[in-house]
Amino acid sequence: MAESESSAEQRIAELRADIEEHNRRYYEEAAPAISDREYDRLYRQLVELEERYPQFATPDSPTQQVGGAPHKAFAPVTHRVPMRSLDNTYSEEEVAAFYRRMKKILPNDKIPVVVEPKVDGVAVSLLYENGRLQYAATRGDGTTGDDVTQNIRTIRSLPKRLKGDPPRILEVRGEVFMTKKGFAKLNAERSEAGLPVFANPRNSAAGSLKQLDPSITAQRPLGVIFYGTGAVEGVELAHQLELIALLKKLGLPCNERWWTADSLEGILRAIHELEKVRHDFVYETDGAVVKVDSFAQRESLGVTAKAPRWAMAFKYEAERVETRLLDILVQVGRTGVLTPVAALEPVVVSGSTVGRATLHNEEEIARKDIRIGDTVVVEKAGEVIPAIVSVRTDLRDGSEKSFRMPTKCPVCGSKVVKDEGQVAVRCVNARCPAQLKRRIEHFASRGAMDIEGLGEAMVEQLVSRGLVREVSDIYRLTSEELRALERMGEKSVANLLGAIARSKQQPLWRLLFALGVLHVGVSAARALADHFPDLDAVMAATPEQLQRIPDVGEVVGNSIAQFFREPHNREMIEKLRAAGLRLTSEPKPAAGDSKIKGTIWVITGALSQPREEIAEEIIRHGGKVSGSVSKKTNFVLAGEEAGSKLAKAKQLGVQILSEDEFRRLI
Ligand code: IVH
Repeated sequence: MAESESSAEQRIAELRADIEEHNRRYYEEAAPAISDREYDRLYRQLVELEERYPQFATPDSPTQQVGGAPHKAFAPVTHRVPMRSLDNTYSEEEVAAFYRRMKKILPNDKIPVVVEPKVDGVAVSLLYENGRLQYAATRGDGTTGDDVTQNIRTIRSLPKRLKGDPPRILEVRGEVFMTKKGFAKLNAERSEAGLPVFANPRNSAAGSLKQLDPSITAQRPLGVIFYGTGAVEGVELAHQLELIALLKKLGLPCNERWWTADSLEGILRAIHELEKVRHDFVYETDGAVVKVDSFAQRESLGVTAKAPRWAMAFKYEAERVETRLLDILVQVGRTGVLTPVAALEPVVVSGSTVGRATLHNEEEIARKDIRIGDTVVVEKAGEVIPAIVSVRTDLRDGSEKSFRMPTKCPVCGSKVVKDEGQVAVRCVNARCPAQLKRRIEHFASRGAMDIEGLGEAMVEQLVSRGLVREVSDIYRLTSEELRALERMGEKSVANLLGAIARSKQQPLWRLLFALGVLHVGVSAARALADHFPDLDAVMAATPEQLQRIPDVGEVVGNSIAQFFREPHNREMIEKLRAAGLRLTSEPKPAAGDSKIKGTIWVITGALSQPREEIAEEIIRHGGKVSGSVSKKTNFVLAGEEAGSKLAKAKQLGVQILSEDEFRRLI
């Protein structure tokens, strides 16, 4: 293989692992580590490389999966009417152009419009049949989304049955959000418990909807606002205002405030008024949606390839403020990568105090010419961690200092290296206390061994007191040692020891992910645990054997082999074994499993176990669970008193199983 080709392959593998990790943080933990802009940059790099080297393109690359959708664990739902998006603008001039365009198409009409708050949440589509909730789905790619019925059902303000006289079919569209207050409270609790905090309400709402366990979603302060429909049968609607009135009458929550206008001046006035009051809403808003009131006029105006001509979203500028850059600190991550972080004079941006901002790497600092002592412009767009967008070079007085990445690790003093062809600089000392802290935090994190109470503050104490020198030491902590720590009463000590003990039973894939092997994300960890019977087999595998596993490949395979070659890693595994951790894979599902792999299930009626548990079991065996019966459904698992879904299954000739038959099958 030519040199450039093999380095391209390596870079592709790295980008995929990085992007996959960022996707996981964004969609599953709702705690993004980088800004949307930075993410787009990585993504584009990968797209370009895959185009240039098509021999390395694979169907499981993140570039082949649209946005967050569709998620493997959720069954696909095809929307009855596609979910379109809107043209977005920040400019009043473009609103004027939008209005003129409509006037040109309908020169003799008055065109009354409605201006509504643009709720900054996650778009969903729900289907009610004769007033009963059938399913709820995310937008996905607009045509097909993820079935998130079980999670949506946990939203308390959402009616599972409509009031009054509901139409036969109502596909209703809206936004799931997390309240601003609830978000602040959730983050306060999480930071107290030492868990990572969410970046903003939208991400945490999205993360909550993608939980595999609906009992977690149920604990999140979610709400929903409806503003439109897809398919409707059994009622004639002619106007947006009429639609909103109907939704309200049926018990569906809608925006409390909206404005009407029939001129450009009126529209702009409404947009300005909304901007003044939007901070008082319980949910976050990021703009105004301007839409034609009359459905007949909407029909005449039609759609372009991308968006309807009858509606437009006006977005309010992300708030920007100026402050001073006091210093550039350097943090050391789990794999030793050094990341510069801006220490700012604290300022309030979009309602919260900001004292830190991400800087990513040395090259970005050089590109923006950011110097210590500069006055910088900080932006907190609803969706990103605060970022420095520019520097007020006109305010410099010559005392500002350029930043140089240290040549020694700021924590342990070891030398740092820059891997060939990479931007990142890395501390090479595997025993560096900073790396150790991050490794332990990762080991204990929710997506890994899930040890509640073992967050940043606790890890800091454990490492700085020398109680934990590597992850296996966690399992040797005693109640005497823990009681001597700050803020650790009898109860917290018992809770933490309980959580540590419970983590010993975590499945092997979680342990494989928790170990923090370079490039091993959740999918590679799951693939390894699926392929090998136990950890010993993984450790004994050659790089060639590892590379043959889907989701692993050359770079990841080499990294795994190298990790387990290190004597200190092997010693650590022995200590974990002695502590009683589970080092074997889940028993492989019986032969019958091939029958259910890839099949779509609907669960209905009263069963001996909660539905969520049965759903988990189906997912574990490779099946998917959906909220409604369609032609795509393979099996309906029907309990006592199953109603309309059972009837529909019979009508469509879908195979129906009792709970006993289901047990026998799996
Ligand atoms: S109407 C044909 N109304 O913002 C699409 N959308 O940027 C009609 N959104 O895709 C959408 N609040 O997910 C509409 N009051 C509102 C909205 C709203 C939030 C979302 C929605 C839409 C996106 C457009």
